[in-house]
Amino acid sequence: MKFFIDTANIDQIKTAQSLGIIDGVTTNPSLMAKEGIKGEKNISDHYLKICNSVKGDVSAEVISTDFEGMIGEAEKLASLHSQIVVKIPVIREGIKAIRYLSSKGIRTNCTLVFNPGQALLAAKAGASYVSPFIGRLDDIGENGIELIEKLVDIFNYYGFGTEVLAASIRNTNHILRCMEAGADVATCPLEPILGLLRHPLTESGLEKFLADHKKLND
Ligand code: G3P
Repeated sequence: MKFFIDTANIDQIKTAQSLGIIDGVTTNPSLMAKEGIKGEKNISDHYLKICNSVKGDVSAEVISTDFEGMIGEAEKLASLHSQIVVKIPVIREGIKAIRYLSSKGIRTNCTLVFNPGQALLAAKAGASYVSPFIGRLDDIGENGIELIEKLVDIFNYYGFGTEVLAASIRNTNHILRCMEAGADVATCPLEPILGLLRHPLTESGLEKFLADHKKLND
């Protein structure tokens, strides 16, 4: 399973990249706004900075909701850097845009996916990734992980090349469950990824190894 880091914060991206286990970055307009990035030029420059801080795909989202607008934005974003994957919402015009962009060789990440029907249309249109938001489904009392399991099965059954990119991951347990479900990618902030390292027996074991070494060597 690949790990993308879900942030537009350059420091966090560089820290994650320095761990050597990050395969890309996902952003969205809310994450860009959180970093205070506004205006077309600053937004493009920031995406370039992200591309230069990480090896792997960088999802950059369009703001338009009509076909022409999405295509125009997507072409500009894709021309910024070869690592850019254009994030398009799973709406009627978005599906049309994904089909067009895929015919032009521009990679897309279909976002705001909450059910298998949406994912199926995105895959048929040629999306490189679909992004089911598992945390937001859990928030409304549905089961986000079940959606990941279904999408993995459906894509395997029909042989779609589209990757299941589990998004809106809120904790370490979500990552573990996504891994069990066979998600191709999990995107989340750095903290839940670091949570994978934690185990009390690792901590106490290391403490004892170091103490035993110290006894003889001090
Ligand atoms: O990038 C999309 C996604 O990961 C959003 O997560 O926590 O805002 O639901 P969240």
